[in-house]
Order: sequence, then structure tokens, then C-alpha cells
Amino acid sequence: MRGSFYIIMYIILGKNGYIAEAIIKELKSLDLAYVALSRKDINYTSKCDFDLYLLNNFHRNILEGEDIVVVNCAGYIGKPNVDACELAKADCVEGNVLFPAMISQLCADRGYQYVHISSGCIYGGYEKHFTEQDAPNFDFQNGSFYSGTKALAEKVVQQNNPSSYIFRLRIPFDECASPRNYLTKLMNYSTLLDAENSLTHRGDFAEYSIKLIEQKTPKGIYNITNKGSVTTQQVVELIKKHKLSDKNFQFFTNLDEFMQQTTAPRSNCVLDISKIEQYIKIRTAEEALDSACLKYI
Ligand SMILES: NC(=O)c1ccc[n+]([C@@H]2O[C@H](COP(=O)([O-])OP(=O)(O)OC[C@H]3O[C@@H](n4cnc5c(N)ncnc54)[C@H](OP(=O)(O)O)[C@@H]3O)[C@@H](O)[C@H]2O)c1
Repeated sequence: MRGSFYIIMYIILGKNGYIAEAIIKELKSLDLAYVALSRKDINYTSKCDFDLYLLNNFHRNILEGEDIVVVNCAGYIGKPNVDACELAKADCVEGNVLFPAMISQLCADRGYQYVHISSGCIYGGYEKHFTEQDAPNFDFQNGSFYSGTKALAEKVVQQNNPSSYIFRLRIPFDECASPRNYLTKLMNYSTLLDAENSLTHRGDFAEYSIKLIEQKTPKGIYNITNKGSVTTQQVVELIKKHKLSDKNFQFFTNLDEFMQQTTAPRSNCVLDISKIEQYIKIRTAEEALDSACLKYI
């Protein structure tokens, strides 16, 4: 299997994170070579330490013209949710802007491919399905602080390293119960906001991301969500259909009522995925949700 792939080595940063976990699982299943790093293994947030690590381990591969890809799955997302970012702005800027700025520049300088994980939460509203070309409209001015840092990071990464990939996902879910899984979140919130959104199955995100890299598709931004959009009501119906919860789900009557309970505004939007669909067949959101509910543990 290895012979049909191009990349010599993947370096995954933030190895214990929710998204990194899926990327690592995908690389393992394809039998692709990777090294996954946590800050405990090597302080990759230090330019000096990470540069030295790359020099000691991969300099020869780069000199021989081999492809080595740094996938940056590290970042500051705010826990349990983005409201936490409003209270930890310095950490959020450091993890989501300054760190990707440093690492994208280092990769450009040393000849490593750079992959940045971004988010569709830089858009809000339904006036259109947002494409990779649309300027963010849900950032420091109109959105949350977290969204602002993700929007700014995209600009900085593109400027520092124009041959980067920037992969945007939205509202991850899958079949594994977790406080990070959208399905689990919906079952645990006391009241829900009914909104239409694009969603991304976590395993699909990993599969599509590796396919884009291995197929050497043009570098740049890709919206990576499942096809189509769903409302919260529709997801709740699937949860009920698969008997994951017998709860009587309650909904806020409107957005204002929801906003009274939160600190940061939330992005609700639909992303256009026609760019990635030129290269890869994408599962629909309904199909991915139905399958995740069916296998949910
Ligand atoms: N989950 C979502 O809902 C979602 C949606 C859209 C986009 N994203 C993006 O996907 C990427 C990964 O997110 P995730 O959900 O996997 O996050 P996560 O589970 O919190 O993992 C992030 C990892 O980043 C590392 N890290 C490095 N510097 C950090 C810092 N200053 N503060 C906190 N962690 C730091 C940590 O790994 P080590 O300590 O092991 O090194 C941590 O495990 C982020 O860029 C995020 O914006 C996530």
C-alpha cells in the first residue's frame, strides 16, 4: 500500500487533541509513516526547539527532495466551549495566531509542507453558502474572539507560506461519545438552539484531508464539511430515531433567548464545498449523521 502514496512522513502537532486523534487514526489505517508530537514530547511551540528537532530528524530527507508534511492540529479552542476564549484572549492569540504564524514561516523557510487546521466558524448568516474566496464576516468585529483568531490565522498563514493547505471543518461529530462530539453535546445541553449548519464527520475530515495531500491537489484553502446542511431539529430527530436518548429535547424560542445564556456569539452558516468536490467524493451530512447515530457508543 505504501507505494501508491507520495508523502514520506507526516509530522502531527498536538497529538492528544480531538482532531489530531482522527488524523492519526487515518494515517495508521492507510499504513502511512507519521510521527505525532505533544508539547510534552518536544516543545514545538518554541521555534528554536522545533527547528532543532526538524534539523536533527528530517534535514537529510529535505535535502534529498522528499516530501515531509507538518500538520498543525494544535490550537486553543476554549473548553468546554468558545466562551472560555473570551476570558483567555492572550492564550487564544498565542495558540491560534502567533503559533501558526511561527510554524508556517518555519516550514516555508526549511522546505516542509504546512497544513493548517482552520474552521468554518469565521462565517455567520445565510445570505449565501460561503466559499473559500469569501472574506470572513464573523470575526473580531462581528463574531467571537475565537473566530477572530481563526480568521486572522488564515491571513497570516497565507502570507507567510502561500503554498500551505488550510483545511476548514465545522462542528465535528462521529460515533464515539465525547464531550467534543456534536451528537453528545446535543444530548447533554439542557436547551438547544435550532439553527441550520454544515457539519463535519471527524473521520471523514481526516480521510478527505489526507486524500487532498496525497493527491497533491492545488494548495490553498478547502472547506471540508459533509455535503448539504442540517438543522438542529433534524439531528435531534436522528438521535431519537436511533434511540440514543429518550429525552424531551427543549429548544430556545429565538436567538436572543439563546444569546442571554452565552458570552460569545455563535457562528451558524453553511459552507460551499464545490472546491473539494472537484477532487473527492463527499458523503452527505445526513448519511454521515445516520451512520454515526447507528454506531454510536
Ligand atoms: N473541535 C472543533 O470543534 C473544531 C472545529 C473547527 C476547527 N477546529 C480546529 O481544529 C484544531 C484542533 O482542535 P481540537 O478540537 O483537536 O483541539 P484540542 O482537542 O484542544 O487539541 C488541541 C491540541 O493543541 C495542543 N496545543 C498547543 N498549543 C496549545 C495551546 N496554547 N493551548 C491549548 N492547546 C495547545 C495540545 O496538544 P499537546 O499538548 O498534546 O501538544 C492540544 O491537545 C484547532 O485549530 C481548532 O481551531 C476544531
